[in-house]
Amino acid sequence: MAFGNFNNTKLSHISHNLSLSTLWKSLSVSGALLFLLYTFAFNHHHQMITHKLFAPLDLGFSSSFSSTSEKPASSSLQITRESPTKLSHLFFVIVGSTKTWRYRRGYIEPWWRPNITKGFVFLERPPGRDLLPWPNQSPPFSVNKDSSITNQFKTHQIRLFQSLHESFKKASKDTRWFVIADDDTLFFLDNLVEALDRYDHKKHYYIGMNSENVWSNAVFSFDMGYGGGGYALSYPTVVTLLNKMEECIRRYLGFYSDLLSFRCLADLGIDLTLEKGMHQIDLHGDVSGLLSAHPQCPLISLHHFDVIDPIFPGMNRQQSVNHLMKTAKTDQSRVLQQTICYQRGNNWSVSVSWGYSVHIYQSIFPRNHLKRPLETFRPWKNVRTPSYTFNTRRVTNDPCEMPRQFFFDSVVEDKNQSMVTTSYKMKMARSLPPCLLNGNHSARNISQVRVIAATIHKMGEGIECCNVQYVNSTEILEVKIRACHKDEVLA
Ligand SMILES: *[C@@H]1O[C@H](CO)[C@@H](O)[C@H](O)[C@H]1NC(C)=O
Ligand SMILES: *[C@@H]1O[C@H](CO)[C@@H](O)[C@H](O)[C@H]1NC(C)=O
Ligand SMILES: *[C@@H]1O[C@H](CO)[C@@H](O)[C@H](O)[C@H]1NC(C)=O
Ligand SMILES: *[C@@H]1O[C@H](CO)[C@@H](O)[C@H](O)[C@H]1NC(C)=O
Ligand SMILES: *[C@@H]1O[C@H](CO)[C@@H](O)[C@H](O)[C@H]1NC(C)=O
Ligand SMILES: *[C@@H]1O[C@H](CO)[C@@H](O)[C@H](O)[C@H]1NC(C)=O
Repeated sequence: MAFGNFNNTKLSHISHNLSLSTLWKSLSVSGALLFLLYTFAFNHHHQMITHKLFAPLDLGFSSSFSSTSEKPASSSLQITRESPTKLSHLFFVIVGSTKTWRYRRGYIEPWWRPNITKGFVFLERPPGRDLLPWPNQSPPFSVNKDSSITNQFKTHQIRLFQSLHESFKKASKDTRWFVIADDDTLFFLDNLVEALDRYDHKKHYYIGMNSENVWSNAVFSFDMGYGGGGYALSYPTVVTLLNKMEECIRRYLGFYSDLLSFRCLADLGIDLTLEKGMHQIDLHGDVSGLLSAHPQCPLISLHHFDVIDPIFPGMNRQQSVNHLMKTAKTDQSRVLQQTICYQRGNNWSVSVSWGYSVHIYQSIFPRNHLKRPLETFRPWKNVRTPSYTFNTRRVTNDPCEMPRQFFFDSVVEDKNQSMVTTSYKMKMARSLPPCLLNGNHSARNISQVRVIAATIHKMGEGIECCNVQYVNSTEILEVKIRACHKDEVLA
């Protein structure tokens, strides 16, 4: 019975298909003919219309273009042949002071490459004996000279403009970008160079990032590149800015130098291009929540290390900066990049912030949730919510919501295999009870997480995925970063 039925349905299905397909064929043939006829007629018609309507305008455009803007046209042609931007094309303008340099040089030297990175730390007066001899690992210093502007306006804010002016005179002809930073800005140079390479340095660019605080942006501007996170000005932008510098200072004297830059540039028609990897860090306390869920782009800068807690437990500020820079030496493009995978047998989510932390959650959380930083930090000012320009997750006591946290411990690079292994150790803190709702699978036994990744990491090509497994009993969890499968869902 069942067999016969099966045959019947199969046969009727085939015949049904046959008749349908012949019908479809004839329909589609005539349809195609109609379509061809129609498109021919329409296109013809359409072309005639466009010719009549737009040809004179088109001509007008091209003639005005060639007469007024020959330079952009030829430079954009050149760009295609031009060499990629390298570190030697960047010139750093670090505005420091003799009072703070002793404490701040520790934030600059870890990333400064002596005799390779170009630029100066600018001081308001010659360094005293306490700062001499000037260390080799430090950027060379330059003392701001008195000029017509300083004599006119004796204020601190214009030191940036003096420094920029002096830098412009000192910089070589092949300088493409001037990078302006505070003396406590930590840069990730390879990532910065890669980011700037995406822009045409022959055009007017002002590249930076606003503050993490809604309050700061509301008071200053959402369109301002904050000086602590650093901002980059293309060569033509600096030429324009310096031309109008005195005029602008007269108009806006008395403001912070980054605010002054923003206002001057805005009045010259040059607006900020946001780079999410630059961080002003207008925050207080423990920023581990933010650094453990960095946005999907290479880390370019960090700031305010004097204000925030040391970013690694059990270390002081300087040690924690040096520690983070260890991973930056192997594969900088990966630093702080978040990768998420799941151990379904235990109902765990694992979130890796490469070179910084691993969080193990005793729940399965989708990526859109784990992308939100845990609000371990406090806002810059205690003002009414909303505090931040991004979404956060509240810190709670719920073992189903809070992760077990591991922090970067060591890195081993295997150059032969182009692999890098980073190890993360348990943070010495209260132990997290198991989440009973999700099957009572405690992550308590794990003391170390190892993350294995390829060193040839391509930037800005979407996210990666990972696999997770135990090695050697239940104490070590191993995470292997890999390319995501097609349409792999992280949830
Ligand atoms: C930089 O170059 C100078 C000479 O040009 C040399 O004396 C100095 O040792 C170099 N510094 C480093 C760190 O290589
Ligand atoms: C790497 O390769 C070189 C030659 O190919 C070999 O001599 C060396 O032992 C290898 N190193 C490791 C750590 O495998
Ligand atoms: C995972 O958690 C769900 C409830 O969230 C539970 O029903 C399921 O049994 C758990 N799976 C395992 C393997 O424990
Ligand atoms: C959870 O598991 C532990 C051991 O793995 C066990 O001692 C405890 O009774 C379990 N709790 C519940 C509520 O099942
Ligand atoms: C933790 O490790 C011990 C042995 O060291 C093992 O007996 C126990 O089953 C492990 N617990 C979990 C939850 O894996
Ligand atoms: C596994 O554990 C043993 C003994 O604790 C140790 O000697 C060995 O190095 C470990 N292997 C790995 C891959 O960690």
